[in-house]
Amino acid sequence: MVLATLAAPTIASAAIPRGVAVWWGCMERDVDGPATLACPRGYDPRYAETVLANFERFTPENELKMIHLQPRQGVFDFSLADRIAGFAQFYGRQVRGHALVWGSDLPRWLTEPRLFEWDRSAALDVMRAHVRTVMRRFATRFPGVVGTWDVVNEPLDERGRLAKTFWATRIGPDYIERALRYADAADSSARLVINEVDVERPGPKADALLELVRRLKERDVPLDAVGFQMHLGSPRGAPPVEDLVALMRRFGELGVDVEITELDIPTPVLATTLGGNAAADQANAYRRVAQACADAGNCTGFSVWGVADPYSWRGESERALMFDAAFQPKGQVNDVYELLGAVPPGPPASTATRPRRATARRASRRRSGARRASRRGRRAGRGSRRAGR
Ligand code: XIL
Repeated sequence: MVLATLAAPTIASAAIPRGVAVWWGCMERDVDGPATLACPRGYDPRYAETVLANFERFTPENELKMIHLQPRQGVFDFSLADRIAGFAQFYGRQVRGHALVWGSDLPRWLTEPRLFEWDRSAALDVMRAHVRTVMRRFATRFPGVVGTWDVVNEPLDERGRLAKTFWATRIGPDYIERALRYADAADSSARLVINEVDVERPGPKADALLELVRRLKERDVPLDAVGFQMHLGSPRGAPPVEDLVALMRRFGELGVDVEITELDIPTPVLATTLGGNAAADQANAYRRVAQACADAGNCTGFSVWGVADPYSWRGESERALMFDAAFQPKGQVNDVYELLGAVPPGPPASTATRPRRATARRASRRRSGARRASRRGRRAGRGSRRAGR
């Protein structure tokens, strides 16, 4: 049990929060959720230690997807998601809510052919109920913990057209606007994000995302940021710093921030055997992305998609993450922290006994009080969301 060995550390405030995708099953021994959510390698005490020592934000890698949260229509299962939020709350960290409306990882009751096909109004009802139930649950149970939501995930196809997802085909192109409005109605203090893959380079897809944001802002739709997933093909996939900065600022001109949401950079074994220095190339690629995020002025988050290589969805042999197979930090880690202006939380102090629940609750109340105050301040300064910046 992870909580048995770790005490809640004090978090240094970070200029740009560093986040990481986590699997609850890797942090907690007794996973009783669906088998698909078991940690790919099994419980590993180093996993939670590395997470807590290095990251301020956790993105549940799968546990908040619709297939897991609403396995039957109207029946929600928050068991694993709650544990991640509770873990984050105890340690004074944030959770990125990922992802409310997406074409993948949908429950079978929604996608399997039925007697009656979903029409627009029925699909809108399902979308609204899902967004509302999920967001309100975390806003009330874990106040201030899930401050940011990927409301719409991957709305575009590889050519920049609207992806033909369940939502787009049943509802129509305005499902994106609807989802964002439902999200704002459910929790007006949450930061709302459209999260997209393969948009970090200028091209038709980045252009299409810019155009989508422009149209949404024109219609005064609540939207705070776009997410650049950045699952790169190789270190060469990390754009030059100035190009990435320029692209981020184009979104800034439209009134939205940018977050790096799912960064991973494979370093295929072949690159090393051919005499290249894959580790150095990877380190430089991570540095470039962090540098761009630091320079852009509107980059508000830097999240990597996994903790250590053996737990990467890309496969261990791709060595795509910031910590190696032995959970040792790679060459880029300190530089990335420095570039983001962040002081790593540092290793949590070990204690022989589990923190008493009452103590944990008091600490958590203190932290959420502080967060409420800072959120009030942020919201006061954020009339900017709809007015644009
Ligand atoms: C991936 C997870 O990492 C895998 O464990 C799962 O099997 C499939 O989904 N874009 C996203 C993420 O927005 O949710 C995806 O996560 C990776 C691509």
